[in-house]
Amino acid sequence: MSWLNLEGKVAIVTGGASGLGKAVCEGLAEVGAKIVVADIDKEGAKQTAAELKEKFGGEHISTATDVTSKASVDAMIQATLDAFGSVNIMVNNAGINIPRLLVDPAGKEELTEEIWDKVVSINQKGLFLCAQAAARVMIKAGNGGVIINMASESGSEGSEGQSVYAATKAAVYNLTRSWAKELGKHNVRVVGVAPGILEPTALRSEEYERALVYTRGITIEKLRERYKKAAIPLGRSGKLSEVANTVCFLASDRSAYIHGTVINVSGGKTRA
Ligand SMILES: NC(=O)c1ccc[n+]([C@@H]2O[C@H](COP(=O)([O-])OP(=O)(O)OC[C@H]3O[C@@H](n4cnc5c(N)ncnc54)[C@H](O)[C@@H]3O)[C@@H](O)[C@H]2O)c1
Repeated sequence: MSWLNLEGKVAIVTGGASGLGKAVCEGLAEVGAKIVVADIDKEGAKQTAAELKEKFGGEHISTATDVTSKASVDAMIQATLDAFGSVNIMVNNAGINIPRLLVDPAGKEELTEEIWDKVVSINQKGLFLCAQAAARVMIKAGNGGVIINMASESGSEGSEGQSVYAATKAAVYNLTRSWAKELGKHNVRVVGVAPGILEPTALRSEEYERALVYTRGITIEKLRERYKKAAIPLGRSGKLSEVANTVCFLASDRSAYIHGTVINVSGGKTRA
């Protein structure tokens, strides 16, 4: 038995095909968990599950899942039960970010109803649908479980040019706290992780950076400086594996008394 004792546990990771979600899949697979890589990117999810088998052995599957659709989330849960018979760990990681200004006097990059609905639907409604479906299974099985929600430090700090993203991440803090109050009696723990600035993922696309520097009136070079030093006491961006390690700890009984809180993983950039 390893220190984390996660061998054989069944973990669903949404947005597991790339970036942070993929790193979380790797971290959990490395310590012996069975992974369900759930992503709207069907081929990417399949590829990640194949890589997990190749690198770490064990049993892993993928599902083509759109977290904004209840039918799709229900199918993800059913596929997990068909393959592994239980759900022990639900990692709500899928998320997007589209920088826009509330008001752009130049009329170029303003927050629209369409962008608002899209970001809220994935980052907030998706989290609700997945948590609810997973919690139902965990409560019925009666063996407890862990729900881990991916927040962001912007959820407590706010973020210039990223108000709708920051608002959905603020909701993640409060959903985590509220669900913890509801699910504790069923021995289902609910926790969150709030990363700061991380090494690049698909989320930090060219289009994302272009829109963000526009909303802040700065250059790309200035923005990239922030990734390294200026505001980060540890003087560097975080590694995806460092966030994944935190998720593995929270998924394990080594963190059995951590419940209803969001762990900040930002290299000291923020405290909340
Ligand atoms: N990268 C960072 O610096 C950073 C910092 C703080 C928080 N986060 C959070 O980490 C999470 C992952 O971000 P990332 O940087 O790895 O981004 P990413 O773009 O690399 O990965 C996001 C994944 O989510 C999937 N996805 C998108 N819409 C989906 C949907 N409707 N249903 C299912 N899957 C969907 C994408 O296909 C992709 O695989 C997000 O919640 C993000 O807010 C990231």
